[in-house]
Amino acid sequence: MVEKVEIKTFRLLLRPFELSDLEDVLRYTSDPQWGLYLPDPRPYTKEVGERFLSRMILDNWDTNPSFAIVLDGEVIGNFHFNVDPKNKIAEVGYTIASNHWGKGLVAEVADAVIDWGFLTYDIGKVFARGQVPNKRSLRVMEKLGMTREGLLRSHYLEHGEPKDYYVYGILRKEWDARKANK
Ligand SMILES: CC(C)(COP(=O)(O)OP(=O)(O)OC[C@H]1O[C@@H](n2cnc3c(N)ncnc32)[C@H](O)[C@@H]1OP(=O)(O)O)[C@@H](O)C(=O)NCCC(=O)NCCS
Repeated sequence: MVEKVEIKTFRLLLRPFELSDLEDVLRYTSDPQWGLYLPDPRPYTKEVGERFLSRMILDNWDTNPSFAIVLDGEVIGNFHFNVDPKNKIAEVGYTIASNHWGKGLVAEVADAVIDWGFLTYDIGKVFARGQVPNKRSLRVMEKLGMTREGLLRSHYLEHGEPKDYYVYGILRKEWDARKANK
């Protein structure tokens, strides 16, 4: 059984979500810019936020760990893992408040959490999906050393519109080699 953990990075605390995080979560999720490339309901109401938090808190860390990204005591985003034990792979997903974009914070979080993920789970690969126009997100994947593996054309219906997604991935051996060369 995987225990919930906290991780400290250079600038941030990553910790399990708590119910009292609702106000912070609603602060960044209510920004339309934040949800532009996400399937989350619009508007992002209090009920949607409560459902999100319940899921993050109740999910089993054996397959679905999630971290609140905390800066100076305030939750400004989230980072989660979806582990597929059968195929020994995990998908990662991430978001951060728009007033903190472009500071390298998500790359900092991803670096630490993927390290933890490879240590904690018997997985050989981590992958991520991002909408084609979501350049910031695709850049995060590239900065992590991931390879663009494919394009999913008109693959997900979001807000009634079919969306194209790029898939990026990195193998455990590539991650280890990247770390050894740092
Ligand atoms: C995508 C997201 C997580 C990125 O977080 P972030 O902390 O701003 O990311 P970083 O600062 O680590 O890196 C962003 C990179 O994108 C680059 N970038 C910013 N605007 C860009 C643009 N228009 N085109 C191309 N690259 C761009 C930045 O220069 C930076 O790269 P660099 O470090 O090489 O200069 C954040 O924008 C976000 O939360 N968006 C809303 C939710 C979302 O879309 N999540 C991802 C779902 S797949």
